Amino acid sequence: MSGLIPREFINELLVRVDIVDLIDSHLPLKKTGANFVARCPFHTEKSPSFSVNRSKQMFHCFGCGASGNAIGFLMDFNHLDFVEAVEDLAAFVGIDVPRETSSASYQNEPKKQDLSQLYSVMEQVAAFYVQQLRDSVEAVDYLKARGISGTIARDFMLGYAPTQWRPLLERFDTKALTDCGLLGSNDSGEVYGRFRGRLMFPIRDKRGRIVGFGGRVLDDSLPKYLNSPETSLFSKGKEVYGLYELLAKNSKPPRILLVEGYMDVVALAQFGLDYAVAVLGTAASGAHLDLLFRFSAELVFCFDGDKAGQTAAWRLVETALPYLKDGRSCRIMTLPPQHDPDSLIREQGLDLFTKQIETTTPLSDYFFEHLTSTLNLSETEGQSQLGEKAKKYLEKLPESIFKELMLERLKKLGITKLDALKNTAALSKKPNKQRQRPEQGRQPLPRLILALLIQYPELIEIIEQREIDWSSLKFDGVEKFNSILQIILRERPANTGALLECYRGHPDEAIIKQLEVLQLEIPASHNVAEFAGALDKLVIQFTEDRRKSLLKKLETTGLTPQEKEQLQKLLSFKG
Ligand code: UTP
Ligand code: MN
Repeated sequence: MSGLIPREFINELLVRVDIVDLIDSHLPLKKTGANFVARCPFHTEKSPSFSVNRSKQMFHCFGCGASGNAIGFLMDFNHLDFVEAVEDLAAFVGIDVPRETSSASYQNEPKKQDLSQLYSVMEQVAAFYVQQLRDSVEAVDYLKARGISGTIARDFMLGYAPTQWRPLLERFDTKALTDCGLLGSNDSGEVYGRFRGRLMFPIRDKRGRIVGFGGRVLDDSLPKYLNSPETSLFSKGKEVYGLYELLAKNSKPPRILLVEGYMDVVALAQFGLDYAVAVLGTAASGAHLDLLFRFSAELVFCFDGDKAGQTAAWRLVETALPYLKDGRSCRIMTLPPQHDPDSLIREQGLDLFTKQIETTTPLSDYFFEHLTSTLNLSETEGQSQLGEKAKKYLEKLPESIFKELMLERLKKLGITKLDALKNTAALSKKPNKQRQRPEQGRQPLPRLILALLIQYPELIEIIEQREIDWSSLKFDGVEKFNSILQIILRERPANTGALLECYRGHPDEAIIKQLEVLQLEIPASHNVAEFAGALDKLVIQFTEDRRKSLLKKLETTGLTPQEKEQLQKLLSFKG
């Protein structure tokens, strides 16, 4: 992206927005008491546990534990990354996102202004190609011959880049065309249009902006496909063809089918299968899978039955392992010889094709079938080889029930001596997190003070008035306590949502979130009194402890001059 977003801007944004309005525009809220509630969008439930608090500017689900501020909501609800969420929030509030230009980004990247100009050029060029398609009998005939209707061509904004490319130069700025990757130059430096005489597939990012193109020849000439080069808009390793078109139909698809070709995605849509996407002539990376898992918990990978296809399938299984958290799943669909999804759905029709997808091999079966296919498991040697091989892969799985089940299954395959493997799994297993429930009754004082401060950051004023020497206080977790205090003093967050923003990605983020949702059972009108009272108690408690231990030391080993001075102060303190 172009330049960092200044921290002050993010603070201002969080002050300007009202999280209740924001969430209500995505998910109708009902007012109950001080909160607004709805059925949680992040898990399935019958009665509403999702609650939005206006004064804290936070949401929290008592059912699944999801919580966050306005930025966090947009990230989770709309599957955005941080910058995208800030941009959308700014648009919701109606202000522009300023950018800090560090020297590096100043030199290497076009400014934000230029990027939006480039997006606009890409959009206009795509529209120009659409127009050219209508005027090209040859291209229209080609699409017809491949059974692609006008509606699908429109949904995917298919176009045609004519062999005569000069009109592009007449219509658009040469520099912009170059930055968009639409021009190339030969060895003698002559500039020419990159796409000539090709059927054009615009590649849109998940927000619908055209970031690149794929272009197919209309005959058998080579190269069959040409893709946009890497530009400041386009990175092949990040984009997935058809994702925007898929999300336009269904923002939470039950599954996503990953195929190889542009034409496969388009032809499947033509037959009513509108949840297919393709990577762009590369192997799917972890980043691709991570992106797709944001939208659906089940991914089905489609591969050719030939050797190359199966090698690619196994490579993708390896890539997918670290991403298989509980609740996520993958299936591997192996196509019959000589077929790709395009030709297969034409032959079988939607129903049969869909049935195959639904019943195709789960990754777990594929995994063991692949590993055991070359081994003789009736022999000890074969069993130990399997254990050896499987261990290497299964270690890549995140700690999960799925991992445990896979290890169980390995055991059942005749591998009994897997203690080493089991032990590593047991060691890395984290203790069960206690379910959060309202904590009534006594809290340790520092925890109560912090929780109040996090839930009502304006209470920091009381701390300032007290002039407490925090560095002299000693209790469990005092360093953490002090560091949180320092951040609140420095950042002056206007509300809990703004405070949470200071902790995005910070090692203490989980602590802040935990204290933020802690049920204190203190009415809002009593906060100041409770807080002041707790502070006093903490100071007195400490003073007494210290006084006692200094008096004891005085009687036994004697005091240093500093300790004497401290004791005098403490004795004069009216606790
Ligand atoms: P395919 O050759 O299987 O393409 O390549 P396809 O989509 O089935 O095309 P049709 O049916 O022959 O029209 C799969 C993908 O590999 C990339 C493209 O992304 C293509 O969709 N590819 C292929 C290239 O990038 N360059 C090429 O020359 C060929
Ligand atoms: Mn094909």
